[in-house]
Amino acid sequence: MLELNLGLRSAAFVLLLLTSIGFSSLVQSKCIRGCDLALGSYNVEEGNDLTSISTYTNNNDINSIIKYNPTTIPNNLDIQAPVRINVPFSCDCINGEFLGHVFNYEVQSQDTYDVIAEQKYANLTTAEWVKMFNTYDPNRIPDYARINVTINCSCGDSSVSREYGLFVTYPLQQGETLDSVSSAANLSSDLIRRYNPDADFSAGSGLVYIPGRGEGEVLAQLKKIRVNHK
Ligand SMILES: *[C@@H]1O[C@H](CO)[C@@H](O)[C@H](O)[C@H]1NC(C)=O
Ligand SMILES: *[C@@H]1O[C@H](CO)[C@@H](O)[C@H](O)[C@H]1NC(C)=O
Ligand SMILES: *[C@@H]1O[C@H](CO)[C@@H](O)[C@H](O)[C@H]1NC(C)=O
Ligand SMILES: *[C@@H]1O[C@H](CO)[C@@H](O)[C@H](O)[C@H]1NC(C)=O
Repeated sequence: MLELNLGLRSAAFVLLLLTSIGFSSLVQSKCIRGCDLALGSYNVEEGNDLTSISTYTNNNDINSIIKYNPTTIPNNLDIQAPVRINVPFSCDCINGEFLGHVFNYEVQSQDTYDVIAEQKYANLTTAEWVKMFNTYDPNRIPDYARINVTINCSCGDSSVSREYGLFVTYPLQQGETLDSVSSAANLSSDLIRRYNPDADFSAGSGLVYIPGRGEGEVLAQLKKIRVNHK
C-alpha cells in the first residue's frame, strides 16, 4: 500500500513538473531581439498620398519610402492607385512576446479603429489589434491623441533558410492565392509556404511574410522587374 502510494505520489509529482514546464514555456519570452529593417506592403488606394503614408509610418520624408520602390513610384511621384508600395520600419521584439513594430499615430477627426487599421494602415493591422494596445474607448478616441498602432513583422526563420534576412509583412487581398503571391515576388510557392505554414493565402485577408535576401537584393530584384516590364 505504501509502495503504491509512493508510486502515485511520484506520478503526480512528475505530472505537476511537466505541467509547470509546459506552463513556463508558454510564459517564457518568445523573442529576444528584432531586426533593423522590415518592410510593409502598403496598398495605396485612390485619394491616399505619399506624404500621408510617410507620416502614418513615421518615416521622416517620402524619400525614405521611395528608396524601396524604384519601380512602383515614378520620378514624378504620380502613383497609379491601387498599387502596393513597400514601407520600411524596424522589426522589434515587443515585450519579449512577438516581433512587431509600434507606429505612433495622431488621431484625426472621423477616425475609428476600423478606419485606422483598414485605411490609414492598409490592413497591415486590424481594428482589434489597434484597440488592444490603446487605453482609449473605441467610441471616444480624442482627436489629435497619439495612439499605438502595432503590426506584426518577421526577421526570418533559420529552420527554413538562413539565406533570407529581409521580410515583407504582406496583407492578403481578395483574389490572391499562394501562386499569385509567389509569382509577384518571383519566389517559389514552396519557399513562401514554408515561411507561412499555417496561412490561408486565398482568405482575402490576414498577413503573410514574403522573404528577401536583404536590402541590396530586394532593390536589385525590383530594378530587374522594372527592366523586364519595359
Ligand atoms: C482593407 O480591407 C478592407 C476589407 O477587406 C477593404 O475594404 C479595404 O479596401 C482594405 N484597405 C486597403 C487599403 O486595401
Ligand atoms: C499578429 O500575429 C499573431 C501571431 O501570429 C496573431 O495572433 C495576430 O492576429 C496577428 N495580428 C495581426 C494584426 O495580424
Ligand atoms: C501605448 O503603449 C505604451 C507602451 O505600452 C503605453 O504606455 C501607452 O499608454 C499606450 N498609449 C495609449 C494611448 O494607450
Ligand atoms: C526571378 O528569379 C530567377 C531565379 O532566381 C531569376 O533568374 C530571374 O531573373 C528573376 N526574375 C525577376 C523578374 O527578377
